[in-house]
Amino acid sequence: MWNMTSGVDEAAMLQAGEIIRKGGLVAFPTETVYGLGANALDAEAAAKIYAAKGRPSDNPLIVHIADFSALEAIAEEIPEAAMKLAKAFWPGPLTMIFRKKDAVPYGTTGGLDTVAVRMPDHPVALALIRAGGGYIAAPSANTSGRPSPTKASHVADDMDGKIDAIIDGGSVGIGLESTIVDLTEKNPVILRPGYINEEMLGKIIGPVHLDEALLKDDPNLRPKAPGMKYRHYAPRASLTIVEGEAEAVRRKINELVAQESAKGRQAGIIATDESAAFYSRGIVKSVGTRSEEITIAAHLYSILREFDELEVSKIYSEAFETPQMGQAIMNRLIKAAGHQILHAE
Ligand code: TXA
Ligand code: MG
Repeated sequence: MWNMTSGVDEAAMLQAGEIIRKGGLVAFPTETVYGLGANALDAEAAAKIYAAKGRPSDNPLIVHIADFSALEAIAEEIPEAAMKLAKAFWPGPLTMIFRKKDAVPYGTTGGLDTVAVRMPDHPVALALIRAGGGYIAAPSANTSGRPSPTKASHVADDMDGKIDAIIDGGSVGIGLESTIVDLTEKNPVILRPGYINEEMLGKIIGPVHLDEALLKDDPNLRPKAPGMKYRHYAPRASLTIVEGEAEAVRRKINELVAQESAKGRQAGIIATDESAAFYSRGIVKSVGTRSEEITIAAHLYSILREFDELEVSKIYSEAFETPQMGQAIMNRLIKAAGHQILHAE
């Protein structure tokens, strides 16, 4: 484990780059979540990622680049809209889908003729991409089925002994995976919501819509990003989201937690700084403050991991329909809850 919490360690970075060039695996921080990196142009290296994560081989990887010029070597055509989005949001938490060039092996794209590309906004990530040859395939650095890692200790919990190195860059800033936009079809579609939302994209390229399969709980609709069809993560204790007006939600959660207590069981509660004091029983964890929604996104995965370590029979979470990241936060939370949502009256 290399510590680069206070900046890029150039000597260690050369070694990390060498591991990538030789086909090894290095976990590294980005602004969204930690990634598990390998040389994206080497099918054998990419295969090691799938093995370490226990990831289904039809779930494609995102190729991370550090310079816009690198895009031309891997994307067949770069639509005008992509140029505009790159200019507005790269480096940053936006992934775009392109038709791939032959340089990108099918082992990286899960057999698809398209490739997902992103330029992360993190000095350690950019330095590693450059030291490693310019193209790093990196999914989130968690075991398949667990929440994405937002700090190096999460990566170590899942990956110790399975990968060549971990670079510790401290806690990530955003905490949810990048927004994915598909520009290969006539109308741009958001395949995965993230920090960069519909409105922000719309200001640059006009109307953009969320993949319909993500809005409805319909098993016949197949999400366009193969990874979005997986349940992803289910906490050990069953999770229920309670939505509604703030006071009604608190009352309902207190009632549900009291029911568990009456049965001699302890429940967990995902609250906010504003609401935590209103819960009298159960294990209460504040995910952040509603006045700064980024704090909610940043702590969500960490809190879900913490509850897996505790003896709780049920977990109840408030809903977080916040203005900018609400769609992304709720997309991840609803998946973790297996679509169990209660409306408090
Ligand atoms: O923020 C992020 O994007 C993080 C950091 C490490 O950069 N990476 C990440 O990767 O979240 P991963 O592998 O956990 O998620 C990649 C998602 C999956 O849902 C996958 O199906 C989708 O991107 N994807 C990748 N290539 C695609 C393609 N060619 N077409 C459609 N979806 C694609
Ligand atoms: Mg992932």
